[in-house]
Amino acid sequence: MSFVAGSAGEWRVERMITVRGEGLPAAPRLQRIEGSTFVAPPEAAWVLSGVRSNERYVELEERRRLIAVQEDLGRASSAQAALIPLRKSKAWWALAQDERRAIFEARSRHIKIGLDYLPAVARRLYHSRDLGGPFDFLTWFEFAEGDAGAFDELVGRLRETEEWAYVEREVEVRLSRA
Ligand code: HEM
Repeated sequence: MSFVAGSAGEWRVERMITVRGEGLPAAPRLQRIEGSTFVAPPEAAWVLSGVRSNERYVELEERRRLIAVQEDLGRASSAQAALIPLRKSKAWWALAQDERRAIFEARSRHIKIGLDYLPAVARRLYHSRDLGGPFDFLTWFEFAEGDAGAFDELVGRLRETEEWAYVEREVEVRLSRA
């Protein structure tokens, strides 16, 4: 999957917020391109690529809860979207798997908080750390215009958690369907 910012695309960039670290160049449109074999147009402002991967942290009961309420991307009602690329610190990646899980869920309640916003927010996680990109994760969210406030609240709550102390670069790209 690639996200191409430039002059074309089905999503209009409404605003870009540099939450932490270096920002990204401005662009009027964003395009999501499935597959890994495309060639980025030379006029693109930036291109970020990621892949879907296996889950790292979800436990069985959590997965059941998520599956019961979550909805898919591409809903007709989803007139707004957000692309949030993030990079976590060396300290995060140096932790053992059980320490990361403890921070992610036992202490930060990432899944528990996220569940409060389902099914309003549809989401997808792409990994890009092993592709050598500037971010570790590309996170994608779709929601109705009326749920934009709830989405703001969600990201606000997550950014106060211990997990986010390990986020060293984060850019929030807010979009509406062009
Ligand atoms: C990972 C749920 C919102 C950023 C995860 C995972 C779940 C989850 C279950 C773990 C996947 C795994 O096991 O590997 C949710 C739900 C949300 C939500 C239900 C509500 C809509 C967000 C938001 C952001 C975000 C708003 C960004 C601002 C991430 C990141 C990871 C992640 C970066 C990967 C963490 C890592 O592997 O270190 N999320 N999430 N999530 N989520 Fe969320």
